[in-house]
Amino acid sequence: MDCHSDSEDSLELGDGTEVSVSISEEHWKKNVHAGEIGCTDCHTAISDYPHPDVEAKDLRDYQINRAETCKRCHYAHFTRVADSIHYKQFEEGNRNAPTCVDCHGAHDIAVPGEPRMAVDERCAQCHAEISDAYRRSVHGKALLESNNPDVPVCTDCHGSHQIKDPRNADFHAASYQICAKCHSDADRMERYGLNPDVVDTYLDDFHGASNALYAEGLGRPDKKLATCTSCHGIHDIPSFKEADKSVVRARVLKTCRECHEEVPDGFQDAWLSHYPPTLSEAPLVWLVKWFYRVVIPLIMLGLVLHILMHLWRFRFRRPGGHR
Ligand code: HEC
Ligand code: HEC
Ligand code: HEC
Ligand code: HEC
Ligand code: HEC
Ligand code: HEC
Ligand code: HEC
Ligand code: HEC
Repeated sequence: MDCHSDSEDSLELGDGTEVSVSISEEHWKKNVHAGEIGCTDCHTAISDYPHPDVEAKDLRDYQINRAETCKRCHYAHFTRVADSIHYKQFEEGNRNAPTCVDCHGAHDIAVPGEPRMAVDERCAQCHAEISDAYRRSVHGKALLESNNPDVPVCTDCHGSHQIKDPRNADFHAASYQICAKCHSDADRMERYGLNPDVVDTYLDDFHGASNALYAEGLGRPDKKLATCTSCHGIHDIPSFKEADKSVVRARVLKTCRECHEEVPDGFQDAWLSHYPPTLSEAPLVWLVKWFYRVVIPLIMLGLVLHILMHLWRFRFRRPGGHR
């Protein structure tokens, strides 16, 4: 630090770029490694002065090489990253895929995931458009405005180290389970006056039911499955609280038409908006449901009784000798 804090020197890389060698003492002292490890634990080639030449084509090359040192001490995290879409991209030659240092920093590493807003800021460096959409959503607004700990940041839905490719049919089909973590948690939902039955009602109706069958390996309809994000959006999920009913109805019909082309106005009412059928809301569905709930057990009971009575008659009522 005697040489590096506020230094005016710079080092020259292969492509001629000059990089300042100044390290902020203030950041270094606050960083998680301060007092735990020293400079040469990461800059392993440096033991003397003058230092050996730096071998790097350009700045990105230098960063990638140095980030390799994290794996020596944090091997478990490295193996998780090695499973991710980011690392796959990296191995395919995409130098913009993030290394440990892009998400954590080098000399200013803070306690990871705190504050939660910092996660969004890190991802936003490279996924700016998605981050903008997220900040407009009901989730992002709650985080920005009140640092709300109940809403998801990027890593709650994607994970941090083992990020999988979300652009395939399997991820799409299983994605309702991400939402279910919070939206079927009755305590969490009560704080916002939200219905905690949205996941159960989804799984009960045709879209959720075929999705669940698919998850059990029973084949997939040839159309794209409807999950939470098909109707609500992914990163730009709006709240329904402010919107008036007619706007919501029009928006819902538009969504239905993405998969059910050319259905007439009013088709959206084929779906029960997350509410279980009741006598006042959807009397016909309610009546049919109860009709079957009563009639089917009665028929089964009748059948069993019928068989038992037959057996009883064979055993006790037939005069002896008959077979
Ligand atoms: C946890 C590992 C780690 C430790 C500890 C560490 N560095 Fe670094 N250092 C890096 C990485 C990674 C880079 C690559 C550049 C980047 O991404 O900022 C780097 C870059 C540098 C550079 C090049 C200029 C720059 O900022 O990019 C200098 C100079 C440097 N470190 C000096 C030091 C000094 C002095 C210390 C001790 C006070 C130190 N480093 C401690 C990981 C570390
Ligand atoms: C020489 C071993 C060593 C190297 C190299 C190293 N670390 Fe660490 N790291 C540690 C130790 C020791 C701690 C503090 C103990 C702990 O909390 O696990 C730590 C803590 C951390 C933490 C905080 C963990 C927590 O739970 O709060 C992060 C994040 C981290 N290191 C990232 C990195 C990154 C990124 C690099 C590469 C630029 C790196 N480390 C290189 C040894 C190392
Ligand atoms: C895409 C961004 C990203 C990359 C790449 C990344 N991390 Fe992390 N890391 C995070 C976030 C976010 C957290 C906060 C905890 C969480 O959400 O899981 C974290 C947490 C950690 C922790 C604290 C312990 C824990 O698991 O909570 C350590 C140590 C760590 N990372 C080391 C590394 C190392 C070493 C690498 C490279 C092999 C790496 N990380 C790559 C984003 C990243
Ligand atoms: C240093 C830049 C960088 C950072 C930081 C970064 N990513 Fe990425 N990410 C990429 C690149 C590059 C790809 C590959 C894009 C492609 O397929 O064209 C990618 C791909 C992805 C994908 C797969 C889908 C896709 O478009 O390929 C997801 C999901 C993802 N990142 C999430 C995150 C999350 C969550 C964070 C923060 C914890 C994060 N990323 C941080 C650069 C970054
Ligand atoms: C509420 C959960 C949730 C949050 C929060 C979230 N995502 Fe996503 N993300 C998803 C789902 C689900 C998909 C896949 C949607 C589908 O089924 O097609 C996805 C898709 C993606 C994709 C690939 C598709 C595309 O549009 O390129 C990237 C990249 C991505 N997310 C990055 C991020 C980043 C960065 C953040 C934080 C700013 C973030 N996500 C926050 C759930 C989330
Ligand atoms: C980490 C927990 C968490 C996850 C994961 C999560 N949410 Fe949320 N969601 C919330 C909380 C908390 C609110 C209430 C925020 C508020 O009103 O300020 C909310 C609000 C909503 C709303 C707005 C309700 C209204 O009308 O006001 C919708 C719609 C929504 N989430 C859908 C989803 C979908 C779809 C997913 C999955 C892709 C998802 N959420 C994942 C916690 C979560
Ligand atoms: C077929 C389209 C569709 C699907 C699939 C869907 N939703 Fe909804 N959701 C809606 C509509 C439309 C509303 C507004 C209903 C109303 O209040 O009339 C709504 C309302 C909500 C609300 C606000 C409830 C309240 O109390 O006001 C939440 C939270 C929510 N959905 C989450 C989810 C989650 C989580 C999933 C997946 C398990 C999901 N939705 C699946 C269309 C859908
Ligand atoms: C992402 C695509 C998608 C969206 C959006 C969608 N559906 Fe579906 N829907 C399907 C698929 C696929 C099936 C067939 C499921 C099956 O075969 O079990 C289906 C089946 C149905 C059925 C059962 C009758 C039939 O044709 O099989 C009704 C009714 C229905 N959807 C209504 C709606 C309504 C109302 C909306 C809008 C709120 C909507 N759907 C939005 C994909 C979608």
